[in-house]
Amino acid sequence: MPDKTKGWGFSTRALHVGQGPDPATGAVVQPIHMATTFAQQGVGEHKGFEYSRTGNPTRNALEECLAALEDARHCLAFSSGLGAETTLMLLLNPGDHVVYMEDVYGGTFRLFDKVLKRFGMTFTAVDASDVDQVESAMTDKTRMVWLESPTNPLLRVVDIDAVSEVAHSRGAMVCVDNTFATPYLQQPLHLGADVVVHSSTKYIGGHSDVVGGAMMTNSDELEKQLRFHQNAVGAVPSPFDCWLLLRGVKTLALRVERQSENALEIASALARHKAVKRVFYPGLDAHPNRAIAGRQMRMFGGMVSFEVADEATAFRTLERLKIFALAESLGAVESLAEHPARMTHASIPASERQRAGVGDGLIRLSVGVEDVADLIADLENALS
Ligand SMILES: Cc1ncc(COP(=O)(O)O)c(C=O)c1O
Repeated sequence: MPDKTKGWGFSTRALHVGQGPDPATGAVVQPIHMATTFAQQGVGEHKGFEYSRTGNPTRNALEECLAALEDARHCLAFSSGLGAETTLMLLLNPGDHVVYMEDVYGGTFRLFDKVLKRFGMTFTAVDASDVDQVESAMTDKTRMVWLESPTNPLLRVVDIDAVSEVAHSRGAMVCVDNTFATPYLQQPLHLGADVVVHSSTKYIGGHSDVVGGAMMTNSDELEKQLRFHQNAVGAVPSPFDCWLLLRGVKTLALRVERQSENALEIASALARHKAVKRVFYPGLDAHPNRAIAGRQMRMFGGMVSFEVADEATAFRTLERLKIFALAESLGAVESLAEHPARMTHASIPASERQRAGVGDGLIRLSVGVEDVADLIADLENALS
């Protein structure tokens, strides 16, 4: 992909790469091309588009913009984050082994454990915030190391640079799910990763109104294989969803800055509250990976988790919140709260969850852009 960023900063790229006045009409907003098929001038002679599963102009615009935000050569947009993950995993073969961070998103675990294992792939969960654990789990069959950082829901931070070095020395590729951090806060391809995946349903869309996924890489060969598999499997987004994502991403930096500022204040307030046993937020000085987070992230993000006495207290707290909506998902302008053990991570067996440290008293917050004093008052009232 030619460099269309002209050295622009993040927000300028979010607003102008892949977009700009439509050459046909001058419209400043990217049109939604709903066409499923495109007329050919002669057999096999066309303007770059044949059939919308294979390629679509609105999707292309989104892909160019998102590639620029991760500073990547290539981006593929998908129908969902899991659509992107599944397509990537189809590059592996029966017998291949994957080492993955133990508190990954529950749906990622479900894909590995309940679907891909049936096709002969094998998986080992480790705490990848300890690089030695990654190294010890690798075998001569390990083809991929799968990371999330910060993790979901315990906000552990992985040293992506160090893990990439270990993985590459053993011939494995590194995939980072960058959904929590967003490309504004962290760019894993600059830290040695080979592939980045996003659930763009979350921060990239930012308004709880579109499901989508994205994958970025600098490898031309990987891009070729991914495009082939995406077209073969069909996990493509609709043009309207691409347009919603293009609209959402324009304000990504503004939103994430405000969410990160709010989250830091909320995490500090929770850390002082007597009903709270523990707070998980990479921006707190007490966080064990605070130094790595400071090195590889611009700010610390909008996700905060905290632990109360037990499940009953967690349920009561969640039910008493008035501004935070009790809901799954994350990354939108409005604040959400949820109970990982019974909601987002319910697909992980209780024993695995406990081993990974996802307890019954854990609450996860997705902090929005509301006034932070109102959010803190809401939490204090619910905890009282
Ligand atoms: C970190 C993370 N990765 C991937 C996914 C899956 O994305 P989607 O719901 O868009 O399929 C999610 C969804 O919650 C997520 O939180």
